[in-house]
This record gives sequence, structure tokens and C-alpha cells, in this order.
Amino acid sequence: MSKEIVVSGIRSTGYLHLGNYFGAIQNYVLMQDNYDCFFFVADYHSLTTHPKPTELKQNVFRVAAENIASGLDPEKVALYAQSDVPETAELYLILNMLAYMGELEKVPTFKDKVRQQPDNVNAGLLTYPVLMAADILLHKAVKVPVGKDQEQHLEMARNFASRFNARYGDFFPEPQVFRFNHEAVKIMSLDGEGKMSKSENINATIYLSDEDDVIRKKIMKAKTDSGPTEPNSVMPEYIQNLFLLMSLCSKPETVESFRSNFNNCNIRYGDMKKQLAEDMATFVAPIREHAAELQKDEEKLRKILKAGAEKARESASKTIEGARKLIGINYY
Ligand code: ADP
Ligand code: TRP
Repeated sequence: MSKEIVVSGIRSTGYLHLGNYFGAIQNYVLMQDNYDCFFFVADYHSLTTHPKPTELKQNVFRVAAENIASGLDPEKVALYAQSDVPETAELYLILNMLAYMGELEKVPTFKDKVRQQPDNVNAGLLTYPVLMAADILLHKAVKVPVGKDQEQHLEMARNFASRFNARYGDFFPEPQVFRFNHEAVKIMSLDGEGKMSKSENINATIYLSDEDDVIRKKIMKAKTDSGPTEPNSVMPEYIQNLFLLMSLCSKPETVESFRSNFNNCNIRYGDMKKQLAEDMATFVAPIREHAAELQKDEEKLRKILKAGAEKARESASKTIEGARKLIGINYY
């Protein structure tokens, strides 16, 4: 029986962090044995913010290396750079004709960008979800492992797929969000302001490339307060986030002991953060070291990305051929 198809991407906009790891990559790794997986570095997507041409390659290679260091096996999955599969651009163009201004303008991530970078509201930002739909539909994926922040984009991909199907004939499956543990993991920034993200507050983000001491410093500075005064209080979001990180990096009994301290109003956040910092450093160190090792071997990374792109293009060209035929671009 053929395996179900899975697609996901991570933008090459900076160093990967624990949000990327727990929100996305961990799911990739769990899927690689049982699905036909296409994972890529979304370098076209990163162009919306005009990265320096001299830095692009290094960013793409680093994201690839960090994925492999996190457990992704390029022998099992197609790991490639988005721009190495130019069929993406053709499907993007086709889907743009089925996407409406009104719906694109309403996307919350677009509205955020308009607020964040009013001087650079380019059309690529507006059609960002269309490019993402092209990435996914290009391989006729049915499952897409992404964090919670991407759910709306995925809904749009389903809409574009069903619009295409209604107009030209049944062709694309409707892709669904997939997570192993069902619960969407969303890692907040350590300052309590929004989600952990590649490009925002680097001091409140734990990167997979952070040295042990950097991790300790960042965790010790994480936002806390003077602690609960009533037993079994509701946790503020920034405290919940520390418990979430602890549940991901520490032993279950460690989390339980601090949780009962919280519930009994005798928690000492300093102690909790010290423990969390040590467990997190132990967790991140092997990934950091493996990624650094890989980045030194550019030839190896180049071979991996090339092989991944070949596999991706094989699948992409079939889809494009089928889509063109249905549209009527079928002249000779
Ligand atoms: P970033 O927002 O850091 O630039 P991307 O947009 O490239 O990261 O996201 C890559 C993947 O990581 C997506 O599947 C996204 O849902 C996931 N992700 C990003 N940040 C977080 C976070 N803080 N918590 C959980 N998942 C996240
Ligand atoms: N938009 C995604 C993000 O910001 C990255 C991405 C691009 C993606 N294309 C994709 C994710 C296709 C899944 C499938 O996180």
C-alpha cells in the first residue's frame, strides 16, 4: 500500500528555536518512517523580508543542518530547498488566479505584518498563503505537520484546492493539519510577549544553537512573579509556558514536584528556573553539536539538498502536468 503524503516547510529567516523544534520538527521526525515525507526550507517565503543575498545560502544550509541534527533522516525523507523546485512557482501562479483579494487581506498573519513593517507591504506578503498552498498541493499532500499559528493558512490551502477541483475537476486532496500528540504545542517567548519566534526578541528565545551558558542566562531572566497566594490558582500564561518547557525537557517527576509546589503556594521560581535551565541545556547540546558538525561539511549538505530536490521535482512535475491539462494548457 502506498504511504500517505506529508509536506511541511520552515522559513530560512534565522536560527531555529524550541518553538520550531516542538511545534514542527519533532512531528516531522515521528512521521518519517510511516509517511512519504517532503520537508523543505522555505527560502522563497523568506524573500518577503528581503534577506541579504550574501546570507541566504548560509541560512538555508543552517536550517537544513538543524533539521537533520534534530533527527530528520534525509535517507527517509525528501529534504530540499523550496527554490530548487521551480514547479512551486508555476503552481503558485495558477493558484493566485483562484485566490481573492478580500480573503487574503483578512488573514491575521498578513495584518500583523502590515502593522510590523508598514514600509514593506509587498504583494508577496499578501499572497504568502497562496505560495504555502502551492508547496503543499504540489505533492498532493494529505497531512501537514505545523504549529497552531499555521492553521489558518492550511484552511486556505483547502479552500484553494476545493476551488480548483470545482472549476477544473477533482485533482487535489484537501490537506489537514497533523500532530502526533493532537494537542498543538505553542511555545511562548520567555518575556511573556507573544510566541517564541526566529526574528523577535533573541534574549527571550532559546535557539537550538545556544550554548549552555546562554541557555542558563535566558532561562534565569524568564518572566515570573512573586508566586501564587491562593492554593490551586490559575497559572499566568508565562508560568504555564515554563511548565510546558519543563514537561518537554525534564523528567515527569521533576515537573510534578514543581507543580505541586505551585499548587501549595510554596514554589520558588528561582529553583525551578535553575532546574529547567540544566535540563534544557542537556537537551539542546547534542542537537547544537551535531548541527555545527554538519555545517562544516558543506559538500554533504549540498548532496542531501540536491537529492531531496530531485525527488521533489519528480513528484512536482507530475502534478503540474496534470494541473495544466485540466486547465486546458494542453496545446501540442
Ligand atoms: P518562525 O515563526 O519562528 O519564523 P516559521 O514561521 O518558519 O518560524 O515556522 C516553522 C514551523 O515552526 C511552523 O510549523 C510553525 O508552526 C512552527 N512554530 C514556529 N514558532 C513556534 C512556536 N513558538 N511554538 C510552536 N510552533 C512554532
Ligand atoms: N508558512 C509556514 C510558517 O511560517 C512555512 C511554510 C511554508 C509551510 N510553506 C509551507 C509549512 C508548507 C507547511 C507547509 O511556518
